[in-house]
Amino acid sequence: MISKKLEKAVNEQIQKETYSAYLYLAMAAYFAAQNLDGFANWFYVQNQEETFHAMKLHKYLIERGGEVELMEIQKPPKDFESPLKAFQAALEHERFISKSINELLQKALDEGDHALASFLKWYVDEQVEEEANAEKIVAQLEMIEGYKPGLYHLDKELAARVFTPPVDATA
Ligand code: FEO
Repeated sequence: MISKKLEKAVNEQIQKETYSAYLYLAMAAYFAAQNLDGFANWFYVQNQEETFHAMKLHKYLIERGGEVELMEIQKPPKDFESPLKAFQAALEHERFISKSINELLQKALDEGDHALASFLKWYVDEQVEEEANAEKIVAQLEMIEGYKPGLYHLDKELAARVFTPPVDATA
C-alpha cells in the first residue's frame, strides 16, 4: 500500500498532468481560431496524451490502495501571441513537468517505495520525448518565423500527427 505522503504527491502529479491537457486544449483552440488546423491537431493529440498520463497515474494509485483526490484545475491562458511563443510556452511547461516527475521519483526513492519508482521510470522516458518534440517545433518555427509559406508547410506536416495509445492503455 502506498503511503499517505506519496498518495498526496501522486495526486498533485495527476493535477499537473490534467492541467497540461487543459493548457494544450487552450493552445489547440488558439491555433484553430487562426485556421492553422495542423497546429491545432498537434495540440489536440497532445491533449489526449496528457489525459492518458493523468489516467495512468489515477489507475496506478487505485491499484496501490491509494485514494484519488481530484483537485482544482486553474484556468489556462487564452492568447499565446504567436505560433513560436505558443510552442516556447509548451516547451517551458514540459520542462516544468519533467522536474516535477523527477522530484516525485526522488520522493519515492527516499521512502524506499521501489514499486512507485519503477512505475515512474515510464514517465521519465516519456518526458525525454515530450521535451524533444516541443524543442524540434520551436527550432523549426525559429527558422521560418515571419515566412508564411514555411508556416503553411509546417501546418500541413503537423496535421498528420495521430494519437497512438501505448499498449498498456487499459492497464
Ligand atoms: Fe504529461 Fe507532457 O507531460
